[in-house]
Amino acid sequence: MDNQNKKKIRLVATGGTIASQARSRVSTEGYQASVISVEDLIAELPELNDIVEMSAEQIFLKPSSAITDEDLFHLSARVNELLASDECDGIVITHGTDTMEETAFFLNLTVNSPKPVVITGAMRPAHVISTDGLLNLYNAVCCAASDASHGMGVVISMNDLILSARDAVKFSSFKTDAFQAPLYGVLGTVRNANVTYCYKPLMRHTTTSEFAGAQYGKMPRVDVLYMLQGIDDMLFKAACEAGCKGIVSAGSGNGGVIGAIGKAYRDESEAGKDELPVLIRSTRVATGGVSDAYRMGNPKIIPSHDLNPHKAAILLRFALAKTNDPAEIKRIFEQY
Ligand code: SIN
Repeated sequence: MDNQNKKKIRLVATGGTIASQARSRVSTEGYQASVISVEDLIAELPELNDIVEMSAEQIFLKPSSAITDEDLFHLSARVNELLASDECDGIVITHGTDTMEETAFFLNLTVNSPKPVVITGAMRPAHVISTDGLLNLYNAVCCAASDASHGMGVVISMNDLILSARDAVKFSSFKTDAFQAPLYGVLGTVRNANVTYCYKPLMRHTTTSEFAGAQYGKMPRVDVLYMLQGIDDMLFKAACEAGCKGIVSAGSGNGGVIGAIGKAYRDESEAGKDELPVLIRSTRVATGGVSDAYRMGNPKIIPSHDLNPHKAAILLRFALAKTNDPAEIKRIFEQY
């Protein structure tokens, strides 16, 4: 393919296992994390130049667990800046897998373009036998260069699958098929460089997101509380004292808010008071989400539907950056 007809794809590298150095060819864990630069990464894949006009930059180089709000807004601003230019047809982001679903969902809310944004990473470090990083990167570039990826929102491309940023969940802590979309399934596949989609996300994202292009200096504090049999309200009180504006409950079953925490919301509404933070009912169960069945008499208790606790926390922070009105927050959780 001559350069004129090739898509211009920008690789924005952030670190993670895909940028990590194995201690030996058979050592898949305990590696030197986030040390391989983007130049060294793409130097291993000269085949990319056969299919796209590739360019790359290192926006930061860190494990994904170290990524901050500031990093996310910086990344989002850079992605929007690149996509606004005719010199960029699509973006691939390399990222650690540990918090990839959070960054992907954050960008799904804030990217302001229908052009493809594809996030990928690796479960095995570079240079180990059967590393997955290079094929994941190659597939992600195929995905970003495909017209079919236009308007799909931010996607994760891992292990030959394409998943919506909204639905993707890290489901295994070590296997190469780590990412799944347990409730609604994957959007498509990348197979021998062929990108095939079967489904399209309908919930609001990117160009239809009211948060597209948002840049908030400081996001409201939101805490996630994991519900357990016999849990007391010690962490709940600590979160309130720390000034949290919202709580996400990783609830039992269909989003049960257990014991003293549930009672605090019931007591508040019975007393006609308005002091507690908004509480989003999510679930610690891996799939199925939560229904709107239990509002416990308090409009500040809002279901996350099928967003898991960490994605619900991101959406709640964006919602609270705009409004404190529970009806508006409920509307946002119904639309994203
Ligand atoms: C990380 O998330 O930065 C390390 C783990 C990984 O990339 O799989």
